[in-house]
Amino acid sequence: MPTPHNSATKGQIAKTVLMPGDPLRAKVVAETFLDDPICFNEVRGMLGYTGTYKGHTLSVMGSGMGIPSIAIYSYELYHFYDVDTIIRIGTCGGLAPQVDLRDIVIGQAACTDSNFADQYKLPGTFSPIADFALVRRAAEVAEQLGADYHVGNLLSTDVFYSDRAASQAWANMGVLAVEMEATALYLNAIAAGKRALGIMTVSDLVLRDGILSAEERQNSFTQMMEIALETAITC
Ligand code: HPA
Repeated sequence: MPTPHNSATKGQIAKTVLMPGDPLRAKVVAETFLDDPICFNEVRGMLGYTGTYKGHTLSVMGSGMGIPSIAIYSYELYHFYDVDTIIRIGTCGGLAPQVDLRDIVIGQAACTDSNFADQYKLPGTFSPIADFALVRRAAEVAEQLGADYHVGNLLSTDVFYSDRAASQAWANMGVLAVEMEATALYLNAIAAGKRALGIMTVSDLVLRDGILSAEERQNSFTQMMEIALETAITC
């Protein structure tokens, strides 16, 4: 069923979808890693493709940046396209001292400064968590690949240009890294009875100096992709 944001018909999208923030990244992932990719969406330039990886049908679609954007696309995938699993692949800013550039962060949970969860009218504060089987499998694959990886809390912020004191406060609570989407993805998955995980590479360090060159970005991207693809087809 096409939506205002997605022209795909039901059946054109796989049960598992990888979601990078950047739609052009989705195109590159489809063309690099999938066999016979077919584009199912171009609405608003939010490119989506379905193909096969090692014989398994898999889709990849951009999420856009920020909670409202990923919330729209992931909600529609879960509710209107029968998608069971979404794995966000993206970048994050390192917050914790043990997190370095190029490391992989597997988001076990995602704190936020957004009030997205208010919609559920809960009598307290909900903890948005990833699907445990996906977390466990991604960590196993990362371990097998010998990746430098961390499993723990993310911050999904609404404020990219935030002040240092706010970032430091989250770091003091052991939050590993900051990005802008995981919490909404996890909440949508949980509310729909479905599965989600975010696997990120560290592209910059928020409380220390450090930013990746284009080449370093590419290398750590490839490792993140190996983890995400293997997790997607084996879990
Ligand atoms: N802040 C928020 N989102 C991000 C960052 C960051 O430093 N790096 C990559 N995504």
